[in-house]
Amino acid sequence: MEDSRTYNITWLPGDGIGPEVTREALRVMEAVADTHGFSLSVDEHLAGGAAIDATGEPLPETTRTACQESDAVLLGAVGGPKWADTTGDQRPESGLLALRKVLGVYANLRPVRVPESLADASPLRPERVADTDVLFVRELTGGIYFGTPRGRTEAGVANTMVYSEEEIERIAHIAFQRAQLRGGHVTSVDKANVLDVSELWRSVVTDVKEEHYPDVELRHLYVDNAAMQVVRDPRQFDVVLTGNLFGDILSDLAAALPGSLGLLPSASVGGTVGLFEPVHGSAPDIAGTDQANPIAAILSGALLLDEIDETAAADAVRWAVDATLEDGRRTGDLAASADAASTSEFGRAVAERAADHTPQTTTAS
Ligand code: IPM
Ligand code: MN
Repeated sequence: MEDSRTYNITWLPGDGIGPEVTREALRVMEAVADTHGFSLSVDEHLAGGAAIDATGEPLPETTRTACQESDAVLLGAVGGPKWADTTGDQRPESGLLALRKVLGVYANLRPVRVPESLADASPLRPERVADTDVLFVRELTGGIYFGTPRGRTEAGVANTMVYSEEEIERIAHIAFQRAQLRGGHVTSVDKANVLDVSELWRSVVTDVKEEHYPDVELRHLYVDNAAMQVVRDPRQFDVVLTGNLFGDILSDLAAALPGSLGLLPSASVGGTVGLFEPVHGSAPDIAGTDQANPIAAILSGALLLDEIDETAAADAVRWAVDATLEDGRRTGDLAASADAASTSEFGRAVAERAADHTPQTTTAS
């Protein structure tokens, strides 16, 4: 018999559709936990607009501490029109930025795959996108999101793109290491024809490659060209390495490839505790209506399981999502409303499939 393993998960449902999609992610994770011999102890806390309403701040101290003391954090989404009048550090989004910084999660991994069953849902021609498999590696705790001077200055209002050599080096290592496990190719994105910070980015990334990863291929693209290439021929990419803002923009763009932002998960790692969240936002227009696609949240749960080394369980989750899609089930973002499954119906279907998928190796020995 194996020892029973228990993981402490901090659950931050957040705003809009965040609660309903992460609830399904937890349902699926619980289902695989049972079959893979571990358990989850889930502790719910406030973040974003929900936290502002309850406590006046987007990242209350209790939430911060709970996250720091847990094994992993699962987050829904933050923000919405209700908090449109907040500014600066009082915005719901600032709570998320502060959390990323507190946890030190400088590496944001955003895999974009187009499952064969969804190639038809893409706004691009299916033969252009089928088999797309890109990993965006986005720097997450630096760049223009955090640089100073920031806010009112004598000249106007500023945000400043700053990167130190160390910040570029550590994210470059992550991208090259990931590439070694995949297709062996990194595309680094910058704006080195205009920005000084990108000149440094380019030269540090090149040095890291030459010193440590002779086996990985590296090319550099300007961000404007990269945006065009992502749409024109997404299959040319393996790992895409970007700074914080460029990665934010390009990953939403890439989300259009499989046809819905509701499909893309993300993992933020490299710090003390990993943070797992869908790439999509809080979708206030459909919040609370049980219509949102929970796949991004469910796959974020799979990335969480990878990170805590429950990789067989993580694979079972990914398999179950694919199997559910192959069964023809779709949420409203991907199907006509008469045929669409609700968020919770879809989540339950994935959970059932996931529980069916027993580990390849038996636990009896
Ligand atoms: C994302 C989001 C966030 C970001 C916002 C909500 C702060 O757009 O995770 O991509 O810009 O990083
Ligand atoms: Mn974004």
